[in-house]
Amino acid sequence: MRRIEGKVALVAGAGGGIGGAGALGLAREGAAVVCADIDNAAAAATAAQIRAAGGRATALGLDVRDRPAIDSAVASAVREFARLDVLLESVGVSQTAPFLDLDPGEWERVIAVNLTGMFHLGQAAARQMVRQGGGGSIINITSQLAEVARPERSAYVASKGGGRSLTHAMALELAPHGVRVNAIAPGPTLTGLTRASYADPERRRATVAQIPLGRLGEPEDIVGALLFLASDESRWVTGSTVTVDGGYLVL
Ligand SMILES: NC(=O)c1ccc[n+]([C@@H]2O[C@H](COP(=O)([O-])OP(=O)(O)OC[C@H]3O[C@@H](n4cnc5c(N)ncnc54)[C@H](O)[C@@H]3O)[C@@H](O)[C@H]2O)c1
Repeated sequence: MRRIEGKVALVAGAGGGIGGAGALGLAREGAAVVCADIDNAAAAATAAQIRAAGGRATALGLDVRDRPAIDSAVASAVREFARLDVLLESVGVSQTAPFLDLDPGEWERVIAVNLTGMFHLGQAAARQMVRQGGGGSIINITSQLAEVARPERSAYVASKGGGRSLTHAMALELAPHGVRVNAIAPGPTLTGLTRASYADPERRRATVAQIPLGRLGEPEDIVGALLFLASDESRWVTGSTVTVDGGYLVL
């Protein structure tokens, strides 16, 4: 028996590094997956990979700032696969600017996508899970930067700290419905979000020096924690953050 057999997952950010690996991992363990991303072609490519491996998947374009589109993504999961058991929220945008120079519009953009998007997705998915009964698992991708600040990342850091607190608040209110809500906090991981900055050898060396396990993460490194949180193996786990960072936070 596979670990997530018969369940239905919506993966937001499925066209990205962590979301893509997560969607493939969930499908490998038996879930039917709705792959959603603002980059429609990237979401479709992930769904095609799942189907090529014998899994069940559909794809749709989705901007997490668009609440009606989120509600229809949830409805589409239910239409296609009859229910919704797992939400993986792996959407994110980055930002680099000194706090004193940070443009308010840039602040709004990062909070809208990383934090308000998490609220919209979480609420829409949770409403469906509560309506259908039988519980569910919501997994929000936050960051090691929910715990520590780094220079010139104030909007990103605030969005991730907010995501961590939102995960706590959702866990508390959704527990009576059997819906568990947890976060995964990845450390520096090679994805579309970070690849350009780690192309700079000095930046890469400085970052790796902060990681006790001595290398950057790969998206596949995050999948083990995701499958644990998505499956019934974590049935008594809610409101937690699983840190997957090569030891970054203990250095
Ligand atoms: N890569 C890292 O080092 C790292 C570290 C900690 C946390 N994270 C978090 O992991 C999550 C996934 O990021 P990733 O590293 O896989 O990067 P990624 O860029 O590969 O994936 C992010 C995905 O989000 C999508 N997206 C952006 N704006 C969107 C919107 N408005 N609506 C819908 N989709 C949108 C992008 O198209 C992309 O496919 C993010 O929350 C990110 O903050 C990443």
